[in-house]
Amino acid sequence: MNAKIVLIPGDGIGPEVVSEAVRVLDVIASRGGHTFSYESILMGGCSIDAHGTALTDEALAIARASDAVLLGAVGGPKWDDPKAKVRPEQGILALRKGLGVFANLRPAKVHPALIDASPIKPDRLAGVDVLVLRELTGGLYFGYKGREVVDGRTKVVDALEYWDDEIRRILELAFKLARGRRKKVTSVDKANILDSSRMWRQIATEIGQAQPDIALEHMLVDTAAMRLVTSPAHFDVLVTENMFGDILTDEASVLAGSMGMLPSASLGDGGPGLYEPIHGSAPDIAGKGIANPVGTILSAALLLRYSLGLEAEAAALEAAVDAAISAGARTKDLGGTLSTTQMTERVLTALG
Ligand code: IPM
Ligand code: MG
Repeated sequence: MNAKIVLIPGDGIGPEVVSEAVRVLDVIASRGGHTFSYESILMGGCSIDAHGTALTDEALAIARASDAVLLGAVGGPKWDDPKAKVRPEQGILALRKGLGVFANLRPAKVHPALIDASPIKPDRLAGVDVLVLRELTGGLYFGYKGREVVDGRTKVVDALEYWDDEIRRILELAFKLARGRRKKVTSVDKANILDSSRMWRQIATEIGQAQPDIALEHMLVDTAAMRLVTSPAHFDVLVTENMFGDILTDEASVLAGSMGMLPSASLGDGGPGLYEPIHGSAPDIAGKGIANPVGTILSAALLLRYSLGLEAEAAALEAAVDAAISAGARTKDLGGTLSTTQMTERVLTALG
């Protein structure tokens, strides 16, 4: 097959990990007789430096016209002034909205050989395989924002806004994904306080009644935060709104031993998907060649699966990462000594 993949290397370690994933994709393409063509665009700090904005309309248009987008990471201390009008993160939000990718899939699994790399007690980690499904284009991130000075005090507002159809489509997807897994959905909300959560819970209940083969449970977000570390194996598909999902996915990443291991996929209705490791731009280790490329390589596997329909290639790549880890391949974040490129080579060796 022919596929056009847009690369967004971004800032910090982003370019280092994206080029590793491209090496892997090239091997997969040449073996399978596929042609992947790449085009790179700027986003984040590098785009602010070049164009004064975190994502230009031209760059977004190129991303929209592709089959899939592979992103490294954006941001860094250079652009971190809280008073700055333009910030690297604006690029990510504009890209998510512009691609319409409302569903963010963040799987967290624990490789048996990495159980000791996690700060969680080993007996709690057996059998952990959770898919967090985070709503990505609504809620607090995109709601009404405002400031108002009243009698010398300043009032600030970030509104948590959702339309019912936005809630319905992410919950429907949670049920669909659960059907291909262990058939359990945990819908996470704060229905004791928030009206948006009460509507969320009501819609989840309706969908659950129509699909009785899937077990649905509701859980308050504070309880979910606790249970993710006390009994993480409890969860199959955990679905939640944008900001709760942001927080819970960083927490879930601790289960896997290192943030450097975890991929993500952001999907919409038919357009190109967006794939990125869940880690940030790690400016402290940028340019040293020691970043863990696995999160980005596994994101490339999700790209093969969800945007290109190449399930066999995706599964083979995931198996190769597992095999490399089993064989002891470790970058610095996992307590090892392999460089970024050496880690990729170990994955390619395992790919055979
Ligand atoms: C993430 C990140 C982003 C988010 C930031 C960088 C805008 O934390 O992808 O989880 O909050 O969504
Ligand atoms: Mg986050």
